[in-house]
Amino acid sequence: MIKKVGIVGCGQMGSGIAQVSAAAGYPVISQEVSEELFEKGLRNITRLLDRAIEKGKLDSPTKDKTLGNISGTTELADLADCDIVIEAVTEDMTTKKEIFQELDKVCKPETIFASNTSSLPIGDLAAVTNRRHQFIGLHFFNPVPIMKLVELVRTLDSSEETISTAKEFAESVGKRVVMAKDTPGFIVNVLLVPYLLDAIRQYENGLATRDDIDSGMQLGCGHPMGPLTLTDFIGLDTILYIADIMFEEFKDSHYAAPPLLRRMVNAGYLGKKSKRGFYDYNK
Ligand code: CAA
Repeated sequence: MIKKVGIVGCGQMGSGIAQVSAAAGYPVISQEVSEELFEKGLRNITRLLDRAIEKGKLDSPTKDKTLGNISGTTELADLADCDIVIEAVTEDMTTKKEIFQELDKVCKPETIFASNTSSLPIGDLAAVTNRRHQFIGLHFFNPVPIMKLVELVRTLDSSEETISTAKEFAESVGKRVVMAKDTPGFIVNVLLVPYLLDAIRQYENGLATRDDIDSGMQLGCGHPMGPLTLTDFIGLDTILYIADIMFEEFKDSHYAAPPLLRRMVNAGYLGKKSKRGFYDYNK
């Protein structure tokens, strides 16, 4: 049973996971490489809670209780007594492996390890630890407090006990859990990313304007965002990264990144986070 949650990384995904875990009543320790980055993540959480208060969806004591459940550290060793540690750092295999090797040394033997990676093989991360049976993928979606889904990724070695404990935990923070195999893109990205790549390809080929492609899918299919807006929201670099991993694995043109996407990423057009993608966010 999960009583205490450790989260590595307090960026967009890590802070979101910290927020929903703390709101569900878990004490959370959030590890970042610097105090400034932890404070930045905490400010993000505070801003979202304040917005919820303004809308009358939350009261002040609940906000204080949620924030009171979150503490920060720069040391992985401070996560030693957590029952689950969820890693949500940048999508870099070497960095993630180093983190899990370190966590494996410092955490109690029962601690379950989870990665929030959207594209890297969970089994490869598990293999650097001595607790492959207690290792799963827990893939949350952005924005974490709003998106109801978690993909629970089972490796060849994940034990049934680990899966059921992790499922119970994800449900307790308000998420619907779907079970996915440890293959690139899991369920959602293997379907979503080719759709986004196709939208970019059609835009590049001149099928329609940017706004009409987005309006077409938003209004014609009832999607909350059109594909080019969604690509900006997720990050062009993230979509390219996932596409390249899937193409490498499946060698299928479905997953091939259109030249425009690569060119935009190389030029620093990363979407909303760099204030410039298919749309301009400087205004
Ligand atoms: N963080 C937290 N909450 C946010 C938010 C953010 N960045 N942006 C908006 N919200 C909240 C708002 O506070 C609001 O909350 P309430 O309903 O409680 O009031 C709610 O979301 C709706 O917000 P808005 O009315 O301002 O705007 P909207 O109706 O346009 O919704 C959206 C914004 C929720 C982001 C919506 O456009 C949406 O669902 N877009 C699609 C998002 C999506 O597909 N995410 C998955 C990406 S794929 C992924 O994450 C996996 C991967 O590996 C790449």
